[in-house]
Amino acid sequence: MSHGYLAGRHFLQIPGPTNVPDRVLRALAAPTIDHRGPEFGRLGREILAGLQQVVKTAGPVIVFPSSGTGAWEAALVNTLSPGDRVLMFETGHFATLWRGVATRLGLAVDFAPGDWRRGVDPAAVEERLAQDRGQQIRAVCVVHNETSTGVASRVGEVRQAMDRAHHPALLMADTISSLASIDYQHDAWRVDVTVACSQKGLMLPPGLGINAVSQKALQASEAAKLPRSYWRWEEMLKPNQSGFFPYTPATNLLYGLREALRLLQEEGLDAVFARHARHAEAARRAVQAWGLDLQCLDPREYSSSLTAVRMPDGHDADAFRKVVLERFNLSLGNGLGKVQGRVFRIGHLGDFNDLMLVGTLGGIEMGLGLAGIPHKKGGVQAALEFLAGC
Ligand SMILES: Cc1ncc(COP(=O)(O)O)c(C=O)c1O
Repeated sequence: MSHGYLAGRHFLQIPGPTNVPDRVLRALAAPTIDHRGPEFGRLGREILAGLQQVVKTAGPVIVFPSSGTGAWEAALVNTLSPGDRVLMFETGHFATLWRGVATRLGLAVDFAPGDWRRGVDPAAVEERLAQDRGQQIRAVCVVHNETSTGVASRVGEVRQAMDRAHHPALLMADTISSLASIDYQHDAWRVDVTVACSQKGLMLPPGLGINAVSQKALQASEAAKLPRSYWRWEEMLKPNQSGFFPYTPATNLLYGLREALRLLQEEGLDAVFARHARHAEAARRAVQAWGLDLQCLDPREYSSSLTAVRMPDGHDADAFRKVVLERFNLSLGNGLGKVQGRVFRIGHLGDFNDLMLVGTLGGIEMGLGLAGIPHKKGGVQAALEFLAGC
């Protein structure tokens, strides 16, 4: 492969970080301003209000300079105490990593096993909570969209299951690869802490971690005893009311966030969700036409953000991805954790349109041939017919 100039745009079709739109890139490049001055206050107020609309909450939204992992930690340390029991579900790699964060913080995690091909089963939530007669479980933590598998759990139904069990545990949801891509409703589903970050549906570079917080979670934070300093919500909430931050914020990322929120408003959230769902359907039709298997087994749980594709036995997904990168300058997501080498992932979230999807699928179909992966032709054609027909 030549290491000289590669003409044309790189196709960044991993499921995050996603392609950053030109308008956001230009916004990021503006000169940094005084984060204690009046202009910053206006910026802060606009982005916090805009995030409330995207998360669908009237409550506070907190933005940290951090990756998503920081937002996971913030959700736990603000609401829980050492030794508290939390219920988590092994939906895939990211659920497993969140479990690791909780365990290292000294929480006692009940980790319900899973096969990495299905989401959280609401009936299993109800059953486990019903068995917890002493109501020791303090929080149920769910990854809304499991980025390692392309499986989206039904968070609204998880809430209903918790209600049926009459259990007071907090509900926490990781929306890192679903927010602004798949419908999500913090208030309507009475989620207590929503965890999100910048680099996926929000179309920004990495660097912002987000918590949306219910009144119940705020109350829990008053009694919670896990040590916290940088992540303390209370420090944020007062200055945030006038758009300011207690420490130096990631000013330029916030410029980008303001622009990204404007883009989402201009397109309309429902249109954004419909666009993602349509591209996901086209991608699945391509995969099915190639004769390959989807990692997600239940159509009710298909992800609109990404499609994880299983490799035929004896074929290495990473060798295939290498061919696609070197020949077509297209990055596909790798298999993570238990499915390493077994799965590749097509990211179709964020700033993305029909022709970008067609280019991505074209690179994959050519790559399957070049890498000697057994498949049928016609995946791109199946996607074209679907896209042209609706
Ligand atoms: C669902 C999910 N949760 C958490 C994370 C961790 O976020 P970060 O890598 O920004 O710390 C990711 C990252 O891809 C993710 O997809």
